[in-house]
Amino acid sequence: MTEQIVILDFGSQYTQVIARRVRECNVYSTILRYDTPAAKIAALKPSGIILSGGPASVYDKDAPLPDRGIFKLDVPVLGICYGVQLFAQFLGGRVEKGQKREYGKGTLTVNDRDCALFKHLPAQLQVWNSHGDKLTRLPKDFMVVATSDNSDYAAIEHPQKKFFGLQFHPEVVHTPRGKEIISNFVHGVCGCGRDWTMRNYIEQAVETIRAQVGKERVILGLSGGVDSSVAAALLHKAIDDQLTCIFVNNGLLRAREAEVVQEVFGRHFKIKLQYEDATKLFLNRLKGVTEPERKRKIIGKTFIEVFEKTVGRASSLSPGKQTGSLSHFKFLAQGTLYPDVIESVPIGGNPAALIKSHHNVGGLPKKMKFQLVEPLRCLFKDEVRQLGLELGLPKEIVWRQPFPGPGLAVRCLGEVTPEKLQVLRRADAIVVEEMKACGLYYQTWQTFAVLLPVRSVGVQGDERTYDWTLAIRAVESQDGMTADWVKLPYELLERISLRITNEVRGLNRVVLDLTSKPPGTIEWE
Ligand code: XMP
Repeated sequence: MTEQIVILDFGSQYTQVIARRVRECNVYSTILRYDTPAAKIAALKPSGIILSGGPASVYDKDAPLPDRGIFKLDVPVLGICYGVQLFAQFLGGRVEKGQKREYGKGTLTVNDRDCALFKHLPAQLQVWNSHGDKLTRLPKDFMVVATSDNSDYAAIEHPQKKFFGLQFHPEVVHTPRGKEIISNFVHGVCGCGRDWTMRNYIEQAVETIRAQVGKERVILGLSGGVDSSVAAALLHKAIDDQLTCIFVNNGLLRAREAEVVQEVFGRHFKIKLQYEDATKLFLNRLKGVTEPERKRKIIGKTFIEVFEKTVGRASSLSPGKQTGSLSHFKFLAQGTLYPDVIESVPIGGNPAALIKSHHNVGGLPKKMKFQLVEPLRCLFKDEVRQLGLELGLPKEIVWRQPFPGPGLAVRCLGEVTPEKLQVLRRADAIVVEEMKACGLYYQTWQTFAVLLPVRSVGVQGDERTYDWTLAIRAVESQDGMTADWVKLPYELLERISLRITNEVRGLNRVVLDLTSKPPGTIEWE
């Protein structure tokens, strides 16, 4: 069994960050709800347990509390922030309600330089605090390891039991040496090796997929996005031509997208690829539709319809047994990621609880009774990208920016027509090309063009024009939930604007979107 660290989630906005930090140490981590029974945790044979922070106070009536048994598992425990208060609550000690939250940068002074957690670290460290209550008396048999301006108990330790408590957050980037503290915990204290790598994962996943699928056939809807592409490459490695990928061109793709997918998967990987060009159907159904939600609904519904039909066709084309009315594909593969499956703890408005319901991918074809294969289910996005590179996928796909399911339809405001799509596609390609040329494309969350249904007067050559307006949208974000608009260099904006107005007919004005999220959304519709 893989060595792992269990992270108990008490509703911290940083729980997933802790899990990722542990994995960056090449140790697998699993997030579980705070109230998971100790016996269930013990069954996973964790090398260590981390108690996340959280917005609650141990004094609250509904305070999230762990199973007391976790302190008797004979496993090292690291309590972060709220986790420290739990030590006090369960193992003796006192916590006092802070008058106000301590929030922001602080300086930690490490008094006990022998503490395993601070090995190879200096005596003074910059740390990030975010807590309301604070510890005012040590739990039984604990000792002080470090203090801060605001706390005599900023880091504490129970040396025999290997319990550690940190009042600050080692997982966030504002604690610059925090990664080393976490590494000291997982390697130095818990004794974990460094086996969790994507190269090792491939071997493990290939075996798991083969064991699950046997000789059956698998279908996968390939969108060209990172997740479905990496899932396809991994499945292909495991089961070769038992995998069929379906790629639906909805006519709302960006320039060269359909070609790249066919080149990479069809010609390079030689994956069985069923390409379905449904442009006409989608665009016919979108005729005259201007309301954003209606556009999205039509596209979602049409996608499922086309997907089902294509599966039926792929099924009849492939040799082998027919097990159902629709297909002989027993399995449907999906690029579901770990953040989609973590049961989030809705405490104090934890934003993680909202992420899942947010535009969920096209929706499963419900009448098709597939079993699911989800080979990326335990991976974070950055791991999926690493895996993609290990599997030989090109950077263009692995580092692709997020692209919404309804595609250019939500960037072509008002009615979507083939002519407007053509204009938008050309302008968007220029934005992407210029961003790539100056090295900013892969550093930005999303950069794209939006075609506005606004015409204005211009002059080109000796002629007056009356043409459409294009908006440039560039945002920085961690997860798409919030975003900041990017201050692109003027020279770059100038080049983009010049090229667009010179090279794309139908546009005579370029504007820049200066809105962050909130209050704006990233997409315009
Ligand atoms: P908004 O516009 O809500 O977008 O700020 C947040 C992030 O989600 C992407 N997005 C979608 N992704 N299907 C998707 O898979 C969709 O229907 C969809 N709509 C928006 C958007 O590009 C941004 O990254």
